[in-house]
Amino acid sequence: MDFSPPSVHRGLEHDPQWYRRAVFYEVMVRAFYDADGDGVGDIPGLISKLDYLEWLGIDALWLPPFYSSPLRDGGYDVADFRQVLPEFGTIDDFGELVSQAHARNMRIVMDLPLNHTSVEHAWFVSSRSDPQGPYGDYYVWSDTDKIREQIRVIFTDTEESNWAFDSVRRQFYFHRFFSHQPDLNYHNPKVHDEIHDIARFWLDMGVDGFRLDAVPYLYESDEGSGESEPETHEFLERFRAFIDAEFPGRVLIAEANQWPREVAAYLGTEEKPQCHMAFDFPIMPRIFYALRSQQTASLNAVLKETTEVPSGAAWGVFLRNHDELTLEMVTEEERQALYGWYAYDPRMRVNVGIRRRLAPLLDNSRSELQLAHALLLSLAGSPFLYYGDEIGMGDNIWLEDRDSSRTPMQWTPDRNAGFSSADAGKLFLPVVQSLVYNYQSANVETQLAQQASLLHWVRTMVHVRKNHPVFGVGSMTVVPTDSPSALAFIRDMPASECRPGERPETVLCVYSFSHNPLAVSLTLPEEFRANKVTDVFGGSTFPAPSEQGHITLALPPQSFYWLSLAGVKASVT
Ligand code: BGC
Repeated sequence: MDFSPPSVHRGLEHDPQWYRRAVFYEVMVRAFYDADGDGVGDIPGLISKLDYLEWLGIDALWLPPFYSSPLRDGGYDVADFRQVLPEFGTIDDFGELVSQAHARNMRIVMDLPLNHTSVEHAWFVSSRSDPQGPYGDYYVWSDTDKIREQIRVIFTDTEESNWAFDSVRRQFYFHRFFSHQPDLNYHNPKVHDEIHDIARFWLDMGVDGFRLDAVPYLYESDEGSGESEPETHEFLERFRAFIDAEFPGRVLIAEANQWPREVAAYLGTEEKPQCHMAFDFPIMPRIFYALRSQQTASLNAVLKETTEVPSGAAWGVFLRNHDELTLEMVTEEERQALYGWYAYDPRMRVNVGIRRRLAPLLDNSRSELQLAHALLLSLAGSPFLYYGDEIGMGDNIWLEDRDSSRTPMQWTPDRNAGFSSADAGKLFLPVVQSLVYNYQSANVETQLAQQASLLHWVRTMVHVRKNHPVFGVGSMTVVPTDSPSALAFIRDMPASECRPGERPETVLCVYSFSHNPLAVSLTLPEEFRANKVTDVFGGSTFPAPSEQGHITLALPPQSFYWLSLAGVKASVT
């Protein structure tokens, strides 16, 4: 496999709002490529695959935690925020990754699990044994577990309470996630100083930003829900001010699994911004709902709700990630339907969600995979791909918890899918060998050799998106249609968003979730009345809209159009 880069690397382009146009790729260091043959992926391994990621068109990597950790929660249980887990490499390796990525104009965003630590973190070890000592107040301690009982448990499969009893300090400590992950006490200003110092440590090494893990849960109170409490937002305003003052151009991404208006709050306001980006949790399950129900009402409604954000802010949109496909942000009726369609085997469920990968969820249907990806790449917001989904990798529901979809990347049909030269039994998780998703057919090398493969298709789509910056920075207007199975919206990039050499652009995106052919009629809003409609991919001309802006399109089952609207009145000012 030859992904030889251009002989001269471009280096990092200057653009303080780079994240608005970026295509992100979530990659777990542990699972991507094992350079030293110990059965575990590592940072040098990831460096050796940067050419592949550049070829795919990736602008930024999101790396889940690679800190020193007992790995009882995939590394989200941090034991030391300033150390790289030795099996993943060294701090110097990480420095090399940053400079190699930057040479390719690729950014590195790392996870910052700032809500909690591992019980093995030195702060906790000290806090439990020395209540009056310097770390005594770093965690949330209580003599009773009968307070704050209104705060819901998130990991419902493993935890009964948010409190755990510590036999050393003989008090309870609060934990929103696993009981081996005590919550930090944000009422203690010293904790803020620590988090700032940790952030500064990595920013000084050149990282381009942080995904703020589990950010709604920083503060809890006796009466509140422990989610999105006002002080959490105040903390974020200060954290953002620190980034803007000392590290402009670096990005903060909120992981807030909340309802639309609450997620939007993590972006803050024009005067008091918080995060630059927030993951759009409500949209994702509704895409899966539309695929099976053939109904777009719920998706339409949520798209209309989430479009208002302060200037410079951006959504992060995704189909899958390293966690379960969370079903927290849907109605009970939708949740039950989604479980029925996508998690018919109880093994497929975890907590309030589904622990499967994209391709198996969509039964490896090429039209569904294409529809879902096209939507991902055209919605308002920056798309986040999950490693392996570009080749339709499968999962392994016989593995524990969310490890089902964290298995080694499949590079070749050779031993260990080309991921590692170790003895197969030594791999951190086995490669997928199921009938449909066996690594011998689902791998990068095989798909490279086939021009019609999913990998080539995804790559082409990523590049088309990047050639049309309207998908990154354009506004989004949902357009009503006459079909309950269709979704249509207009992306519009005004001159004010254009970089030198770019031109304003308007694109109409139309999706059919119907399992049968569908005729879709819609009326272009007055400000977007065009006199010429052309296909973004092949450039062919479509019938012009009527004088009233009326268009009827015929769509094959589960398909889409991206149509360029020329001669639009309002956008070309
Ligand atoms: C991460 C999970 C992790 C949890 C607790 C989440 O938001 O994405 O993987 O288990 O935080 O740290």
